[in-house]
Amino acid sequence: MKVLMVNGSSNKTGSTFTALTEVGKELILNGVEYEILQLGSESQRDCIGCRVCRKTGKCTFDENGLNEFVEQARISDGFIFGSPVYYAHPSGRLLSFLDRAFYSGSSAFCSKPGASVVSARRAGTTASIDCINKYFSIASMPIVGSSYWTMVHGNKKEETLQDLEGLQSMRNLAKNMAFLIKSINIAKENGINLPTLEREHVTNFIR
Ligand SMILES: Cc1cc2nc3c(=O)[nH]c(=O)nc-3n(C[C@H](O)[C@H](O)[C@H](O)COP(=O)(O)O)c2cc1C
Repeated sequence: MKVLMVNGSSNKTGSTFTALTEVGKELILNGVEYEILQLGSESQRDCIGCRVCRKTGKCTFDENGLNEFVEQARISDGFIFGSPVYYAHPSGRLLSFLDRAFYSGSSAFCSKPGASVVSARRAGTTASIDCINKYFSIASMPIVGSSYWTMVHGNKKEETLQDLEGLQSMRNLAKNMAFLIKSINIAKENGINLPTLEREHVTNFIR
């Protein structure tokens, strides 16, 4: 059992990383492995809507480890996408990365649990969580919650480590994520399979 995380901050050891690491430590205690993909400070391509992925199954821009990430997602059991809050939304680099990952490879994520984690100095956290959660809700993914919204406060690691309730929320998120992954596995082992979804109607509102 493995959870694949993405850190959408350029600060590889900053507040978002601190929060994701707190989730990871608790996942390990609950028997679930984890890995954090660091997007770092490299420039990040936006999706250009070229639809090449519709033919090849891969994003035409094979940079920032995008296609490799989708392949990793296929063999992962759950996902946590973390981001600093920038002007009350997630980082642009996270959104550009996830737009391309979900547009080119949504089947890798379908029906697997997902959660968002955000870090802020002060505000814009719930709006950012709402934004990240939209990837999950369009891909039939159960959204994993916690004892509070999955946010931490702080401008840097040292401040985030003082946010005791935030860190508690991270640990509780991990417990809920591990429970759900194990529950889904037990369901499958007992013949309760994931639903087969209807896909035939795509109407663009005009027909
Ligand atoms: C461009 C920019 C915009 C920001 N906007 C907000 C904001 O809207 N609300 C807030 O509370 N903090 C804001 N911050 C502060 C970061 O969200 C905060 O420092 C965060 O914890 C950094 O996480 P990191 O260490 O993982 O990069 C902003 C920071 C930057 C660089």
